[in-house]
Amino acid sequence: MISVFGSANMDLVAYVAQAPKPGETLTGREFRTIPGGKGANQAIAAARAGADVAFLGAVGDDAFGPVLRAALAEAGVEVAALRVVPGPSGVAHIVVQDGGDNSIIVVPGANGAVTGPVGRDAEIIGRSDALLLQLELPMDAVVAAAQVPGTEVILTPAPAVPLPAELLETVDLLVPNEHEAAALTGRDDPRDALEALLDLVPEAVVTLGARGALYGSRDGTRLREAAVPVRAVDTTAAGDTFAGALAVARTEGADPARALRFASAAAALSVQREGASTSMPHRHEIDRLLE
Ligand code: ADP
Ligand code: NA
Repeated sequence: MISVFGSANMDLVAYVAQAPKPGETLTGREFRTIPGGKGANQAIAAARAGADVAFLGAVGDDAFGPVLRAALAEAGVEVAALRVVPGPSGVAHIVVQDGGDNSIIVVPGANGAVTGPVGRDAEIIGRSDALLLQLELPMDAVVAAAQVPGTEVILTPAPAVPLPAELLETVDLLVPNEHEAAALTGRDDPRDALEALLDLVPEAVVTLGARGALYGSRDGTRLREAAVPVRAVDTTAAGDTFAGALAVARTEGADPARALRFASAAAALSVQREGASTSMPHRHEIDRLLE
């Protein structure tokens, strides 16, 4: 079982040829509301990839709250521990331009009210095989969840902010993209960044977008996985799909090479479709790509 302690946002997505510059108004092609948030994305990705997943977090008492809950439940994610707090749900304002690049503003809403594991949360985390964390909740809440004993802690350090020592002490596997890895370490070359990350945590994966991913472990293992060559239409949540699938493979006992291949396949499938939760592949699709 995998637990995800993290954010749920409603993604408000505008599709446009090119993102507007400051002061500019453009006509977009399409607008969609799509359930997202790094936490909910990782939970849905992991559930679709074949794991039992529990989501721990909060939505607001607005119209988006029930939609976010339903999206998680529909993907098979356990939502009994998802709380409703007064005020708006988290939203992410996303501009997707042709070619798939996107720019994002996250307004935390209910995610900002999460203080740490409460009620049965710690018990759920403690009996999980892995806990997936990101940084769209208040840092104190993330630290408190990471400190629950008994589970492997996998952290996606996004958005990129300095990581307190008390958090790093608890992390087993860090999964930044190359920009986050550079921000965390001050090293622009992802290989150098990976080495610096291994001074902080026992294992790390640096994702490189269409160039694939690097893996390193303190036991000396270094791996490079090429991305599956595909035509990307929307890279929103590629990293979340990768992290969710990676956790599934690890909890199933896959070795690092196999886990990287599984995560790369899942992420490659997701970039070929629009949206976040709408684009995450099911297990049979991942298995078919790996055949
Ligand atoms: P994030 O979404 O966090 O910025 P990345 O852009 O590094 O993360 O993407 C995560 C993973 O998704 C990559 O390691 C790769 O496996 C896969 N991926 C991303 N973009 C592409 C692409 N254009 N083609 C194939 N795979 C991709
Ligand atoms: Na996508």
